[in-house]
Amino acid sequence: MDISEQIKQIKDFSYSKMSADTTGHNFDHIERVVNMVQNLSESEHANQLITLAAAYLHDVADDKLVDDPAKLEKEIKEFLQKIDFTDEQANEVLFITHNIGFSKSLSENPPKLTLEGQIVQDADRLDAIGAIGITRAIYYGGANAETIYDPTVKPRENMDIKEYRNLSDETIINHFYEKLLKLEGMMNTKSAQAIAKKRHKFMEDYLTEFKEEWNLGQK
Ligand code: ADP
Ligand code: NI
Repeated sequence: MDISEQIKQIKDFSYSKMSADTTGHNFDHIERVVNMVQNLSESEHANQLITLAAAYLHDVADDKLVDDPAKLEKEIKEFLQKIDFTDEQANEVLFITHNIGFSKSLSENPPKLTLEGQIVQDADRLDAIGAIGITRAIYYGGANAETIYDPTVKPRENMDIKEYRNLSDETIINHFYEKLLKLEGMMNTKSAQAIAKKRHKFMEDYLTEFKEEWNLGQK
């Protein structure tokens, strides 16, 4: 099977798994990550088949989206082998999809990623910042009944994975301080750093404006 056919099959597989998601991980997120990965792979000279496959599949077996991630990883592996991925290629893709999530980077020994993995991680993180990132945070916060803002609730520091998923005292604005403003400094590649810089600035301007409007009339 040639590479363009393999990519097409992976896209269809991803679509069938992701299109019903309503948590901000739906297929338009996947397509943005894929587009970004395409750009980054070119400028960073990475293996496009591996990065594109991992981009399409990166949220399919996410442990917060599915009950049995191991079962889905097995399904992904069988699918990749069916479309002529070697064992080594399939394992490389699965290693990436398994290890790039933000929650993994909160663990004590964050896994060491290949260049291809770094690129997919950068692309996923870039989609969490800037104008799209702001929109996703509000969307996620709304879906999880978060308070918009409460100046008396301070952002949490040094969260572990469990705390990151505990939304009882979470506010949408605090999510910026707990995660989104940290992502610029966590980019792996030079190309992603440059894009992150602009998006980061946009979020800072947004937060400044937000607080100005919130505190109107107060000194
Ligand atoms: P990933 O799958 O990339 O590790 P998450 O599932 O943690 O990301 O987040 C999905 C989207 O929802 C991201 O854009 C993220 O910033 C946003 N999000 C995650 N947690 C919160 C939260 N507590 N409040 C608002 N937005 C959040
Ligand atoms: Ni993602």
